[in-house]
Amino acid sequence: MKRLIDKLHIESNLSKNELLNLLNNMTSKDIIYLKEKANMVRNKHYQNKVFLRGLIEFTNHCKSHCIYCGINAKNSLAHRYRLSKEDILNCCNTGYKLGYRTFVLQGGEDPYFTDDKMVDIIETIKTQYPHCAITLSIGEKSYQSYKRFYDSGADRYLLRHETASKSLYESLHPNMSFENRIRCLYDLKSIGYQVGAGFMVGLPNQTNEDLVQDLLFLKKLGPHMVGIGPFIPHEDTILRNCSSGTVDKTAILLAMIRLILPDVLLPATTALGTLHPTGREKGLKSGANVVMPNLSPTNVREKYSLYNGKICTGEEAAECMNCIKGRIESSGFILDFSRGDNINWKRKY
Ligand code: 5AD
Ligand code: FES
Repeated sequence: MKRLIDKLHIESNLSKNELLNLLNNMTSKDIIYLKEKANMVRNKHYQNKVFLRGLIEFTNHCKSHCIYCGINAKNSLAHRYRLSKEDILNCCNTGYKLGYRTFVLQGGEDPYFTDDKMVDIIETIKTQYPHCAITLSIGEKSYQSYKRFYDSGADRYLLRHETASKSLYESLHPNMSFENRIRCLYDLKSIGYQVGAGFMVGLPNQTNEDLVQDLLFLKKLGPHMVGIGPFIPHEDTILRNCSSGTVDKTAILLAMIRLILPDVLLPATTALGTLHPTGREKGLKSGANVVMPNLSPTNVREKYSLYNGKICTGEEAAECMNCIKGRIESSGFILDFSRGDNINWKRKY
């Protein structure tokens, strides 16, 4: 195992069988060694900095049917909301004063937010905060839509592939196309975005073979960011009685991703913090280097309920910032307030 971890460290690559061998057979000692290597690589490229992104969950209306997600179109129990442009700008203002220099606009696939409306929001934020990065996370769109958003100032786009196994993808996403999802990611890259892909760990019926496919897909795509987190059931979905993924498995995958994509920006996600009180700290110690505290108004936080037990729903933006700062510093890292672009990315124009 040690030899394979060294090979992954040196070559940033392994064959399918080698990756599977690692996932199936690492002992707890091997896992400690893997995480040591992941930390070395993160420190080499980004030192012990942790980058902050202010997350604005601006709509939970969604036309998609992802069966694991609490805000999917079919869930009639979800309390739907939309933030106005003014609300969104207020979130940016609060965030800016707290030191955030990246705003992540995340939402369900909500037809109300037409391309024209999104362009207007992006341009207004860019005019008011020209030194801040804008990250979009609003799902599958056409090449033309992605291009318009980029042209109006969006810098980054998060679109998790969710799972690189076509059959597992199709079982979780009725009426959606795996090929289209992948097309979106390549379109985003070719336009010039910093692109974030990613997947869930511990999905029902997911095998280590499936996770190897995720790792190989990430290697091939070469994203600038990767968001992964444990699957956590939501009580109003048909997966309500399935087991969650685990912090330990997610941490192993974070460490492997750090070795496969050495300069990737890798968040320790809210889902990880939801499964365990120090889940995000464990993520940081496994090679992650980004956290995304919530900037949404507190009165909508609980409504953006993707899975049960989501943390940070009661805290004001400033409380989340202080909480996360304490967690980062007590884990031996330093908070970095710059935009935190991927070191190998430059805006095309
Ligand atoms: N458990 C964990 N993560 C989830 N997501 C959606 N539903 C769940 C769930 N039940 C993740 C998806 C999506 C991201 C915004 O949240 O990976 O891309
Ligand atoms: Fe939000 Fe801790 S980060 S309360």
